[in-house]
Amino acid sequence: MSERIRDYWNQRAGENSGSLTATTQDIWLRRLEVASLIGVIEKLHLPPDAHIADMGCGDGHTILQLARQFPEFHFLGFDYAPQMIETAQVELTRAGGLNGRVRFITGDLNDPVASTGTGTLDLAMTGRSLINLETDGAQYAAISRIALCLKLGGVYLAIENFHEGQDAMNTARAAMGLLEIPIRWHNHFFREAEFRKQTAAHFSSVEVQEFSSAYYYATRVIYSAMCHMQGVEPDYDHDIHRLAVHLPPMGNFSPIRLALCRKAG
Ligand SMILES: C[S@@+](CC[C@H](N)C(=O)[O-])C[C@H]1O[C@@H](n2cnc3c(N)ncnc32)[C@H](O)[C@@H]1O
Repeated sequence: MSERIRDYWNQRAGENSGSLTATTQDIWLRRLEVASLIGVIEKLHLPPDAHIADMGCGDGHTILQLARQFPEFHFLGFDYAPQMIETAQVELTRAGGLNGRVRFITGDLNDPVASTGTGTLDLAMTGRSLINLETDGAQYAAISRIALCLKLGGVYLAIENFHEGQDAMNTARAAMGLLEIPIRWHNHFFREAEFRKQTAAHFSSVEVQEFSSAYYYATRVIYSAMCHMQGVEPDYDHDIHRLAVHLPPMGNFSPIRLALCRKAG
């Protein structure tokens, strides 16, 4: 199965090279994720020269945006899909001027230390990548190893999917007469209580934030109901998506949450 998941991502990278759709069809969600990460990172007050790694970085879009925003930090992106890393390298060259501070390599989330070394990072991130590990055991083992990659006082930011938000979104959809959105075959979602319990063993504080609930409510409930009513297919580039990224946080209707986990200093 894991080979099948890697093949899927390699194929997506090949088919969507140079486009925001390499890692999800929802291009405005990616913009919202990057904007939210920038907001959180600004408040972390990382040291000058901070080292940041994006684990399961896909086509490198997130890192390239962050590198532009934070010109003093160093970035490493790794992914187990070589085609994703090839795309990221092309985008890095195209971006120009970031070469000394940004690197992309192939690497496996099951062994992040092999890519970053032990105790080297001020900040580690995963973005919808840990959900590709197929069991709770593999996911929490990866999180324990991510903690090893961090310096004392370092931070792990997880943008990952949770059943609770998926269920709340589907309950709201049902109220509007819409079909449930199923979890895709290559994803294994977290449960928030277990996530908190497991991460507490490696981090001194864990805070889970809703950053995309209003966006999901607007796009997966209201806009979906409007499309259903009009008999048209939803368009991920519709103005409602474009506008919804600016909605203030509200509710718990998104499968995707941002967890800020801090290693004791
Ligand atoms: C949904 S995409 C997200 C990519 C990127 N983080 C983003 O936010 O756009 C998931 C990525 O995780 C990568 N991935 C999945 N399992 C992995 C593993 N075991 N090791 C490294 N990368 C992995 C996939 O190749 C894919 O690029």
